Amino acid sequence: MAFYGPERYVDMVDLAHARSIDPAKFVKGLGQEQMAMATPCEDTVTMAATAGRRALAAFDVDPAEIGMLIIGTETGVDHSKPAAVYVHELLRLPERCRTFETKHACYGAMAGLTAATDWIAAGRARGRKALIIASDIARYGIQTPGEPTQGAGAVAMVVSASPRLIAFDEELYGDYTRQVMDFWRPLYSKYAYVDGHYSIACYLDALSGALADARDAASVETDISLEHLDACLYHVPFVKMARKAHTRHWEFELRQPIDEQNPTGQERSMASYQQMVAPWLSLNSVVGNIYTGSLFLSLIDYLRGLTPEREGRRLSLFSYGSGCGAAFCVGHVSDGASRYRQAIDPQHHIDGRRKLSIDEYERLLHACEHVDESDIDDVELSQPSAWDLRGEIFYMGTRQHIRQYSDRSL
Ligand code: CAA
Repeated sequence: MAFYGPERYVDMVDLAHARSIDPAKFVKGLGQEQMAMATPCEDTVTMAATAGRRALAAFDVDPAEIGMLIIGTETGVDHSKPAAVYVHELLRLPERCRTFETKHACYGAMAGLTAATDWIAAGRARGRKALIIASDIARYGIQTPGEPTQGAGAVAMVVSASPRLIAFDEELYGDYTRQVMDFWRPLYSKYAYVDGHYSIACYLDALSGALADARDAASVETDISLEHLDACLYHVPFVKMARKAHTRHWEFELRQPIDEQNPTGQERSMASYQQMVAPWLSLNSVVGNIYTGSLFLSLIDYLRGLTPEREGRRLSLFSYGSGCGAAFCVGHVSDGASRYRQAIDPQHHIDGRRKLSIDEYERLLHACEHVDESDIDDVELSQPSAWDLRGEIFYMGTRQHIRQYSDRSL
């Protein structure tokens, strides 16, 4: 696995001051400290390709070994052409490769991961590996309720028959789907439309639904009760959501509501949250919502802190995509996984980011609105030099309606 995100971020205290809001609402109420901000030169493709390149290099995987590439994204760059095919070229993957993009809001990468594990289990991989990349830019716009829950980044995962980090239980899986209008983004809009509080309720209902389906699939060996799990990882649109999710998980298990009428339940669920969820949310708190990748960013946080004693333990993963679709599954940590904790730790990259002033952030968002529309030579802001970026792969705008990418490593 590898994470890559934009080189710029916004501090939530600065944003709160600019919006005349008590900073405690963003920092404590939502649990967010910073949010990553993509410049016009960074898009779903550049972040996915960079994360993919890092994952292959960190785990010494030859691109020739990849037989399947899936990009899960809410932020596709074309109505027709998948972001995956640009990434396929940038990573120099073989032509004998199944390549496509999956979309279901934040659930797209989980759908891709399931397709990859099924491809391997069905025997079609013929010893090859799959590369699944979650890549997104969460944009709600200036002065909207969703503004403090933006972010951007990509998580790349190599899937193989002999995983070095985590192996998924094959039989155990819980699915959930229901048509709801909690969050959507019409084809003509760069910004998401959202019914924020309703989206939280839909997320929690989907968690109960996916858990019920998974429980029906569980056996004595694949028991999903919390006492058999080391960690519970959830989709994290903002950090506080994971706490709400874990409370619902407890309610599901105890079959009773956890509220002011049940102080013991509240206390126990909070203690469990502190032990099984909170330790793996620090990356999410400084990156923000990365839609498809948010759950897997929490998984990277878990794996980067792994000690040998945790190898073999089981953890649950819950993915939620608005609209809505959800999945609950369980994996166990592979023997020897703790050896890779430095290889997947993105802290060096996070520490190297530069803070934007609120004025710069607002100009940046406006610049991103127009970068796809003009010819490359008209758009000064689509030059990496305009943003002083250090990465390798950049989006340079369009030429005759064709997206242009540059790769400094060539
Ligand atoms: N000090 C401490 N806490 C404070 C506070 C203060 N001064 N002021 C408010 N708070 C707390 C509130 O009590 C609340 O906490 P609880 O939920 O625990 O009660 C929290 O801060 C947020 O306050 P509000 O609910 O009043 O905030 P809001 O109405 O402005 O909107 C939001 C919050 C709905 C999350 C909004 O930011 C939003 O719409 N975000 C986008 C949608 C989203 O992320 N939905 C998540 C589920 S859908 C999904 O997961 C898919 C996806 O990725 C989009």
